[in-house]
Amino acid sequence: MSELADTIKHVASPLARQTLLDDALTRPVAGGRPVRILPWLQVVKIGGRSIMDRGHEAILPIVDELRKLLPEHRLLILTGAGIRARHLYGVGLDLGLPVGSLAPLAASEAGQNGHILAALLAPEGVSYVEHPTLASQLAIHLTAARAVVGSAFPPYHHHEFPGSRIPIHRADTGAFLLADALGAAGLTIVEDVDGLYDADPNGPDGKKAQFIREANAADLAKSKGTLPFDPALLEVMATARHLERVQIVNGLVPGRLTAALRGEHVGTIIRTGAHAA
Ligand SMILES: Nc1ncnc2c1ncn2[C@@H]1O[C@H](COP(=O)(O)OP(=O)(O)OP(=O)(O)O)[C@@H](O)[C@H]1O
Ligand SMILES: [Mg+2]
Repeated sequence: MSELADTIKHVASPLARQTLLDDALTRPVAGGRPVRILPWLQVVKIGGRSIMDRGHEAILPIVDELRKLLPEHRLLILTGAGIRARHLYGVGLDLGLPVGSLAPLAASEAGQNGHILAALLAPEGVSYVEHPTLASQLAIHLTAARAVVGSAFPPYHHHEFPGSRIPIHRADTGAFLLADALGAAGLTIVEDVDGLYDADPNGPDGKKAQFIREANAADLAKSKGTLPFDPALLEVMATARHLERVQIVNGLVPGRLTAALRGEHVGTIIRTGAHAA
């Protein structure tokens, strides 16, 4: 009887008797590489401002391309927020709303763009799924359909870091966190430019901007220039576990997304901090 009481009181766990604050102590247990949950999955982030806000001229060709990719790939299509979120930030900031209140509002705009894409791909069995479903039932959805659509925004709400009044973890960061956590085969970020340049190609000195075919996230984090993605993306790339690279492609040029998913170098490849096993 006393032996039984002992086993109930002492749950065997390699972490039971030590602080979780000391990396050196937790590393033997927590330092291993996580499993790849969906290693065959291709994640595609569709720009809110760069693609969705342009309406049918940009959306219909990319939907057509996505449709044709379905027999070849199983896709998680994640959408960015675009201009409506910028307007919402403006109104919310004017009213003094904290960043944790603005984050879910902007995320809902990204979700609206997702609903639009999912409606257009519905004849192929594609539907929009909310974050809790992405977290717990993505595999079953991708067994029933070749692709699902979700919001690329991470669900930070009042947990968003308070340093900036505009949420720092936006669509590109959310898409990367999800793709890396799932151990996906790849992440392709679809924009309205050919990839990364050394300066904004649509800025005042845009004509002089030089195209960067390949870059390292750690080097980019040190440079001060503007980027076609959330700066926080570079931070999460530094600690990536699976995704070794991300490709940024121009979604306004037919065939670029298809080529990128086939492994071709057709945009800018950014290397992360993850290394092959
Ligand atoms: N160094 C750079 N290289 C390439 N494009 C840049 C650079 N700096 C700024 N840009 C601009 O970024 C734009 C893309 O904007 P942005 O990333 O905000 O759109 P998006 O990804 O569609 O937005 P969302 O976050 O809503 O999905 C490009 O059209 C380009 O003008
Ligand atoms: Mg972008």
